[in-house]
Amino acid sequence: MTEQINQDGVLHVTDSRTGRSYDLPIRDGAIRALDLRQIKVSGEDFGLLSYDPAFLNTASCKSSITFIDGERGILRYRGYPIEELARRASFLDVAYLLLHGELPGKEESQAWASEIAHHTYVHENVKKFIDGFHHDAHPMGILVSTVAALSTFYPEAKNVSDAARQREQVIRLIAKMPTLAAFAYRHAMGLPYAYPDAELSYAGNFLNMMWKMTEPRYQPDPVLEHALDVLLTLHADHEQNCSTSAMRVVGSSQVDPYSAAAAAAAALYGPLHGGANEQVLRMLSQIGSVENVPAYIERVKRGELRMMGFGHRVYKNFDPRATIIKEVADEVFQVTGRNPMLDVALELERVALADDYFISHKLYPNVDFYSGIIYQAMGFPVTMFPVLFAIGRMPGWLAQWQEGSADPEQKISRPRQIYVGQGLRHLDGPSS
Ligand code: CMC
Repeated sequence: MTEQINQDGVLHVTDSRTGRSYDLPIRDGAIRALDLRQIKVSGEDFGLLSYDPAFLNTASCKSSITFIDGERGILRYRGYPIEELARRASFLDVAYLLLHGELPGKEESQAWASEIAHHTYVHENVKKFIDGFHHDAHPMGILVSTVAALSTFYPEAKNVSDAARQREQVIRLIAKMPTLAAFAYRHAMGLPYAYPDAELSYAGNFLNMMWKMTEPRYQPDPVLEHALDVLLTLHADHEQNCSTSAMRVVGSSQVDPYSAAAAAAAALYGPLHGGANEQVLRMLSQIGSVENVPAYIERVKRGELRMMGFGHRVYKNFDPRATIIKEVADEVFQVTGRNPMLDVALELERVALADDYFISHKLYPNVDFYSGIIYQAMGFPVTMFPVLFAIGRMPGWLAQWQEGSADPEQKISRPRQIYVGQGLRHLDGPSS
């Protein structure tokens, strides 16, 4: 979690149960949980465990992909500040950076983009099973299912130790996400599926598959295309969050990456994670107008509701992604006109940031607070918001999965528990 300053040393601990003392090495600001196992009350004792529900203070891996300093509002991919990447690199170059550790040169960048564009088509049978979903099926449910289903089209993906095979799956997953996402939307709208256009950028092609109607060639608005590209970059990775942990944990069983990515997408669907942007818009419409903001804030303070798009497990002063998103919002509204929900959001932010409850709980707008307002202005229905998040996060999931698979210290994930249930009892006797 912290940057690499020398944090090595030794932790001296004395077990009050036995009076014995132990020296536990500290490396990179952490002790090894397994070193606790030597601390026992007797020879038969299993050894000391650390208890950490929701992993509030447990590092599950070493990673060189994303650095976050939640107190100072810093987010970096492979060392580069998110602000520089969002303003100066394309989403696909950022995906390359996450996966390879370095930004691509000009030729590498072109080759990478064209390789991705080459794999955007999905097997025609995918359309058939999307057709089986109800017209009002949530597109995130369709996405999770179709990502999982891709594993059946590429059985060679099971060979997770073959680097060349795995690279193919990485490319396919990044390439096909927008296609699956747009198909899910068009199914809900009863529209024919629009096929990928390899001449367009990653974001531009997604807009094409979403919105193309009768025109022979869809031309995305460059401002909206750029805004979407930036939003995808802002979502591309966020170290060991819920969905990324799902990707790593499920991937640690050596299942194929499609199945692991489907698990990650399922985790992202939840309203406390990637589903929050959808909930923000539902909340803003429920509030309806600026006058209703104070009453809503009071309900949040009474614990009746959570303020969606506020708060973060890691960021405790501000979310740097939220700052960039506000800039993007201004650009988008120049093209689309102002989203009326923006006034409610701005007032909610203003009142909350001056309120003791939010200050003392360190609750600030997170990435999801404004992203939904932009997506809505661009024409996306709220149900597509988590889907957009998932498209952006795919390179991060894959980079983390690759890193986990290559890490010799990793094994199949298998946390311990503290059993607090019944002692031994028998069907034909009283409980012990
Ligand atoms: N509204 C009102 N109170 C809140 C909120 C909120 N959004 N978030 C946290 N709190 C309060 C919570 O009630 C608790 O108060 P107390 O200590 O008095 O009981 C305290 O703050 C700590 O909350 P927590 O749930 O223990 O904090 P956490 O670190 O486990 O949760 C969070 C982080 C993001 C799940 C939470 O802030 C939340 O539910 N936010 C709303 C959902 C949201 O916007 N999620 C998107 C996160 S950013 C995108 C992503 O990476 O997924």
